Amino acid sequence: MCGIVGYLGERPAASTILDGLRALEYRGYDSAGLAVLTPDGLEVRRCAGRISDLAPLVEDAHLTGSIGVGHTRWATHGAVTDDNAHPHADASGRLVIVHNGMTDNVDELRAELLADGHQFSSETDTEVIAHLIGVERDRGAELPDALGRALQRLVGAHSVAVLAADEPDMLAAGRIGAAGGLVVGHNGCGAILASDLPAVVRHTRKVQIVQAGEVVSLRRRAAEFRRLDNRPVTRGLITVPWDPVAAAKAGHRHFMHKEIHEQPETLAETIRPRVTLDPPELRLDDFRLPTDARQIDRAVIVASGTSHIAGMVGARYLRELARLPAATEIASEFAYAPGPLTRRTLVIAVSQSGETADVLVAVQRAHAAGAPVAALVNTVGSELTRMADAVLPLHAGPEVSVAATKTFTSELGAFYLLACQLAQQRGACTQAQFERRIAAIAHAPIAVARALDVEPQVEELARRFHRCKNFLFLGRGLGHPVALEGALKLKEISYIHAEGFAAGELKHGPIALIDPDMPVVAVALDDDDVRAKTLNAVAQIRSRDGRVILVASDADDLRGDLAEHVVRVPRTAPLIAPLVGVVPLQLFAYHMAVRLGLDVDQPRNLAKSVTVE
Ligand code: M6R
Repeated sequence: MCGIVGYLGERPAASTILDGLRALEYRGYDSAGLAVLTPDGLEVRRCAGRISDLAPLVEDAHLTGSIGVGHTRWATHGAVTDDNAHPHADASGRLVIVHNGMTDNVDELRAELLADGHQFSSETDTEVIAHLIGVERDRGAELPDALGRALQRLVGAHSVAVLAADEPDMLAAGRIGAAGGLVVGHNGCGAILASDLPAVVRHTRKVQIVQAGEVVSLRRRAAEFRRLDNRPVTRGLITVPWDPVAAAKAGHRHFMHKEIHEQPETLAETIRPRVTLDPPELRLDDFRLPTDARQIDRAVIVASGTSHIAGMVGARYLRELARLPAATEIASEFAYAPGPLTRRTLVIAVSQSGETADVLVAVQRAHAAGAPVAALVNTVGSELTRMADAVLPLHAGPEVSVAATKTFTSELGAFYLLACQLAQQRGACTQAQFERRIAAIAHAPIAVARALDVEPQVEELARRFHRCKNFLFLGRGLGHPVALEGALKLKEISYIHAEGFAAGELKHGPIALIDPDMPVVAVALDDDDVRAKTLNAVAQIRSRDGRVILVASDADDLRGDLAEHVVRVPRTAPLIAPLVGVVPLQLFAYHMAVRLGLDVDQPRNLAKSVTVE
């Protein structure tokens, strides 16, 4: 959840690390800090707050040095204070560490060190880890070995990078547990280490991944990988397909706005290289199902947050297109109550980051039960891509804003393709059905582009509604997950209480909430029967003086007074409707947060990659 950066090379370490931290700030922004090895020894600057608070401290200090580590924090152990900001030093002050993870046995380790006379200046588990490494150094261990030994004492998932005053040409870094990525890269001028690719791709696109249970000794021109027990490991290079400029705002005020507007292209990236219409073909070249499609008797989708909501749509695609029984589980619930799984259960993990700890634990549980695991992932080289038996990459490019938008639509696109492929392999569709279906998804990016035209109207709605304190979102059929996603987006970035639910449930309780102060956003885009039922719910709300913003298709003939506001999106095949229906809701959340003057890309208390359970 935190972001780690390390650098050694020909450039000034302080500014290079600050740049890297800015690229990782989506991972946490409670506090920030860095350490540089200067001619006068280790110099640390850190503070509660953001990288923008740290930068003047660093600039004023004029730190001279070409090796250092940095950190942006999402608080776990210890409040958001200067003292708890990383880096943390060992007892002697001759080494510092930055850390991502949570130590489940920290009380025990701290007590042991206190009994040996150690003193701590923070409430963090990180400082405890720094002292453990220092103890191993005192016993004579080389820096990477000392780190490896300390890591073996920790319970939980961790990534740590260490800078030592007596090792001016090396950074040591290591990982344990199924969370917290660590990537290293070299260019002609030096070496970079980071929790995630956005901080590395600005230096090089050729990277090596530090895997769980490994320690890397990073030098200017090479990296040496070892297992925690010191066995050497050979690690190949991966070429990252991202263009670094794709991670910049490209003229948009916020990354979220850019990412919402990128959706026609990013969805096309997910779909078009895999689909041709003449002749009609679907080729998931980079995806090999880990089992015979005809042997699968059930699919269970595991994911969190927005990816979980995408999974709800995905389950419907699998049921409807591939005739495969499918259900979606919240990863953190599935992890500790997975229910019966067999070799014939296909578990599908979905994640933008590929780092979400809840999802990784769910995958471990599935594997333990012998179930094959396929993954839909955006981040190449992430832990999930290594754990899964088969990976269908989203190809949506880097998503920087904490609120997921373009990866939601790409997850839907990838699910649709997977369901079409399974339908073919299982003999669950005719050739004519197959051709109609892939034509529908091939045209989806154009419909999404047209849906973006609603932005001026949605901006005006945000002006009218931004002072409301509560919202209900409702939809039925595929409109239900879209409503859930609209509510999640709104609460996440505008801090307005929003609840999404199935429109048919309105009459079973939520209707009691309806009054003029509880606006309702209704999504009515599914096929005719379901749409008519959702419109009934809207009529029930209107007859109780409720205010309704209705998202409907441009082909619908609606009664003029049905809703206070109607937002029209292009009519598509019913299964494609969630891809266009979500666009006005993303824009609504965005413009509400902008109206309220909030930090759209880095909402409070959140982080982009949630690498703790
Ligand atoms: O990287 P993942 O897709 O696994 O992340 C899952 C959730 O943490 C994520 O979707 C979260 O809910 C977003 N902030 C939603 O916008």
